[in-house]
Formats: sequence, C-alpha cells, structure tokens
Amino acid sequence: MPYCRLRQPPGKRGGFVDALNKEAVNRLIFALDVPDRQEAERFIKLLDGAVGCFKVGLELFIKEGPDVLKMVKDHSSADIFLDLKLHDIPQTVHRAVTSAASHGVRFITAHCGEGEAMLKAAVQASGQGLEVLAVTVLTSLSQQGLSGLGFRDGLMLNQLVLSRAAQAKGAGCAGVVCSGEEAAVIRKCCGSDLKLVVPAIRPNWSGVDGDDQSRITTPKQAIGNGADLIVVGRPIRDAKNPREAAEKVLAEIGQALQSK
Ligand code: C5P
Repeated sequence: MPYCRLRQPPGKRGGFVDALNKEAVNRLIFALDVPDRQEAERFIKLLDGAVGCFKVGLELFIKEGPDVLKMVKDHSSADIFLDLKLHDIPQTVHRAVTSAASHGVRFITAHCGEGEAMLKAAVQASGQGLEVLAVTVLTSLSQQGLSGLGFRDGLMLNQLVLSRAAQAKGAGCAGVVCSGEEAAVIRKCCGSDLKLVVPAIRPNWSGVDGDDQSRITTPKQAIGNGADLIVVGRPIRDAKNPREAAEKVLAEIGQALQSK
C-alpha cells in the first residue's frame, strides 16, 4: 500500500506519484523523543520507510549515549539527526562536532545565540557527510517571550531569526532551524542553498496544541513556505496510530509539493 495517496496530474508519467511519495518521505524527520532505546526501536520499526531521517535529541542521547545511534543505523537506512543544540566556547564546540562526526550522523545542531565564531568552529569540524544546522530562535519562543530577554526594545522575532540565519549562512552552516512562519523570508534573503529545517509542526487534524511550541505551522504551510525538511514529534509519537499519522503528514507534504 502506498504511504500517501496523491492525485496524478493529467499528462504526467506513471512514476510521478512514486517520485512525489519518495520526495515527501525524504522531507520528513521524526523526533525520537522517547525515554529509552526500546521505545526508540519500536518507533523505528513502526515508521520504517515513512520517514527520511530520525532525530535523536537530548532525552534519548543522555539516557543511552552514542550506542543508540548505532541501533538506529542497524534498524534503518534513514539519516540520523543528532539534535544536541551545542552552545559553548568555539573550541569545545569544535571538539564536540569532531566526536559527533565519528558516529556517522548526517546533521548536528548548534545554537546561533553566541555568534559567528562558535558556528564557524562547528562547521570546521564537520565534513565526512556531517552537516551543521544552526538553531536560530527556538520555536517555543514567542514575540512576547522575546521581550523579557534583554534585546533592544521593538526587536521583531522574525528579524532576529533572519539576521541569525544570515549569520549562519556566513559561517558556512548547511542549514538553519527556524519556524515555518519565517521560512519564506529566509528563503528569499538567504537563497536556495541554505537548508531550512522546520519543527513545531502541528497538523490541523492532530489535536496536539496548546503545548510549549509557539510558532507552529501545518506540514502544508511549512513546505509551502519553503521548508526543505520538517521535524515532527508529538503529532506522530502521541497519535493512536503513529504510522497512520506519519502517512497523513506525508500526504500533506505531497500536496504542498504538488501545488508548488
Ligand atoms: O513534539 P514536537 O513536534 O514539538 O517536537 C519538536 C522537536 O523539534 C523536539 O524534539 C524539539 O527538541 C525540536 N526542536 C524544536 N525547536 C527548535 C529546534 C528543535 O522544537 N527550534
């Protein structure tokens, strides 16, 4: 059974729907925000073939250590995104990324907040297929929340995101993590080379809302606004049928790609 059903436009060749499905899968990252290796393994098996990348974050990595990355590789051919959101002095970040590169992961995150030197250090240590994604402003932060953080009065959150994205590009990062709300303007200002990775995805049908995420978008909005990849956690993890939820996300991504 295909994982998403897409309308084939008249005149398109037979492989069109398959290619679109493949493209949708490649754009979906599932956040393995689970407490231990057993749960992670269960989700990897359940979602096999429906996601292009598994994201290992702080909860799982701190519990299980680097062995969990090997487990993901042993059970799936999907990419691995090590989301540790590094934030330290340049030399420490450089050394941390060097360590990460030895685990064969595709993406690692570093925060933008400390400026270009830290991001450059991360980029210098990357390579061997490892790409650095710079976290612009966490998607849990709202415009209101920004006001209490000591930035100059009147600074708009989307301006901060944009200036950090430009800085990340200047530092040589492969991409940035931003919300779907900022994706279009970043794409316009930073060009097509910078990967835009968008979390805080909340499909209309998911029933997941009112949580810690502020700058939310649906899969369709995020992809329509220019996201290359979307990160989905709770709307799939907490669904009654996670596989079915992933397939619905894929269908939405496919629709957004089709109408581009
Ligand atoms: O459950 P939910 O779909 O909100 O999961 C989002 C995932 O993306 C979490 O693992 C979170 O750590 C991550 N993330 C984020 N915002 C960022 C960067 C990463 O929500 N700016």
